[in-house]
Amino acid sequence: MSRKPIIAGNWKMNLLQDEAKALFEGIEKFTRDFTAPQLPTIVIAPVFTSLNVVHTIKCNCGCGGDKVAIAAQNCHWENSGAYTGEVSVEMLKDAGCSYIIIGHSERRQYFSETDEMINKKAKAILAGGLIPIICCGETLEQREAGVTDQHIATQIRAALKGLSEEEVAKSVIAYEPIWAIGTGKTCDSKEANRVIAMIRNVVKEVSSEKAGDAIRILYGGSVKPATIEEQMSQSDIDGALVGGASLKADSFNEIIANTMKVRA
Ligand code: 13P
Repeated sequence: MSRKPIIAGNWKMNLLQDEAKALFEGIEKFTRDFTAPQLPTIVIAPVFTSLNVVHTIKCNCGCGGDKVAIAAQNCHWENSGAYTGEVSVEMLKDAGCSYIIIGHSERRQYFSETDEMINKKAKAILAGGLIPIICCGETLEQREAGVTDQHIATQIRAALKGLSEEEVAKSVIAYEPIWAIGTGKTCDSKEANRVIAMIRNVVKEVSSEKAGDAIRILYGGSVKPATIEEQMSQSDIDGALVGGASLKADSFNEIIANTMKVRA
């Protein structure tokens, strides 16, 4: 089963509009030298206020627009209504997004997002025709206590509850060990692959063999140009969700280039 790799940049709460414009242009220019089938699926997740800026470049750049997809970093599960400060899937689609990151550990930790909320968001995203990037991952305490697999399996079962086989197959999961995020401490590639293979088995168990084989599962946590080749050489790692190294065109483009050395 060949799954097309995804290299996604999560810009988190960084970059003003001019900076977002320059960075997106730097990535878009890089993609011009390649055809879409040569490249991994490239996804960029700016802050809400820069969605329009990057979408405008995507629409007007002439050639590379179809090579970089736009993601939001969060959404609400209702279409509209009295939810001050929230943004709906329909609104994000309208702003040019085709992916939405949900359940990032920073949202779980600082904004008290629960597995139930993440499941509602996944359903709303798929119903709206977009693709969820569902994040999961353990804390250092959980890893040291030996409950990593159990914790992640619980997160995945809850996130995928009630989704059809087709919906699961087109979804994306990102395994991001919390202790590896922004710390410079990458999870050993073989261990990341082991956890990701475990996640794939959970998907097969809650959905189907076919959905488990099709779903793309990424690794995230201090991914750098120097780590990506080994990560992409693993059997079950289908790509990366990149934080810090996605904030500079040079390092993000190098991650894409190094991914292509290993997998197209
Ligand atoms: P870093 O690559 O900065 O560790 O961030 C990972 C992450 O949280 C991506 O969503």
